[in-house]
Amino acid sequence: MHLQSPAPFPQNRPRRLRRDAFTRRLVRENVVTTDDLIYPVFVHEGTNRSEAVTSMPGVDRLSLDLLLPVAEDCVKLGIPVLALFPAIDPSLKTPDGKEALNPNGLIPRVVRALKKEFPDLGVMTDVALDPYTSHGQDGVLDETGYIINDETVEILTGQALTHAEAGVDIVAPSDMMDGRIGAIREALEVQGHIHTRIMAYSAKYASAFYGPFRDAVGTRGALGKADKNVYQMDPGNSDEALREVAIDIAEGADMVMVKPGMPYLDIVRRVKDEFKVPTFAYQVSGEYAMIKAAAANGWLDHDAVMMESLLAFKRAGADGVLTYFARDVARKLQK
Ligand code: PBG
Repeated sequence: MHLQSPAPFPQNRPRRLRRDAFTRRLVRENVVTTDDLIYPVFVHEGTNRSEAVTSMPGVDRLSLDLLLPVAEDCVKLGIPVLALFPAIDPSLKTPDGKEALNPNGLIPRVVRALKKEFPDLGVMTDVALDPYTSHGQDGVLDETGYIINDETVEILTGQALTHAEAGVDIVAPSDMMDGRIGAIREALEVQGHIHTRIMAYSAKYASAFYGPFRDAVGTRGALGKADKNVYQMDPGNSDEALREVAIDIAEGADMVMVKPGMPYLDIVRRVKDEFKVPTFAYQVSGEYAMIKAAAANGWLDHDAVMMESLLAFKRAGADGVLTYFARDVARKLQK
């Protein structure tokens, strides 16, 4: 028996294409652009009122007058869409969250003002009851505390219509009730809102990564130790995400979303491969907080990790990303 003589050189040299910046740029398969960004913002009542969200450094709850310059900045930077989330005054919260239907409530007023000032900036609103309910759940409860589906869908449909009437471009149901996309789509059609787009939070997991968001909208206290496991998806499931997406597309969603983002990139990839519809991912508050905290400690390079995380979404197949980094990313891309 004799040893085979080793080849005198490697059979393949993939490093050739990594040799210079120009070749790396030439063969790069995915890039992040400003067109990929949706910027989530938190609004509350009042004037000249800004409150820092402690668990999300760099993120503030803003009154409308302070949001307008932020929206203007987004227009200048070329960010396509702002996503609005309200921190509702506790005095307006009820078990049924009916403030969500108020045509002169915070969100409809902010939508009208934004569309008036910046008609070319896309505006998206969240359809869910959690900012409006005294218990912090996304729907109404029966006497046992279970979140009832069909009654909740009726209220959500009214909420979506209220936003459409205020002129919102995209409604994004994030509640995970069954049948809500179909109900909302039908109501929009019947009322003549044929252009209102629906971005469905189709695969939304019951995730601990939403913690800082609940601080931002002020639902953490109300929710207490309660969880959302009876409507949001189990983090152990993957095939179920495909079933949820299939249902939402059949019911009339124009775009679908996977949430959270980076820990669920496998789901983004499966959804994109299977359905080939516009697919979005949400880099949620906890993901943002982790990067911010590590960077603040000097453990990670803030900008490098931010850009790499966005690129990873693109590589996984996302057409766009909701991210609290949107303005930082857009600024970086301008350089
Ligand atoms: C509420 C909603 C949540 C988020 C978006 N819409 C939180 C939740 O479901 O409890 C989370 C966003 C984030 O963590 O950044 N319907």
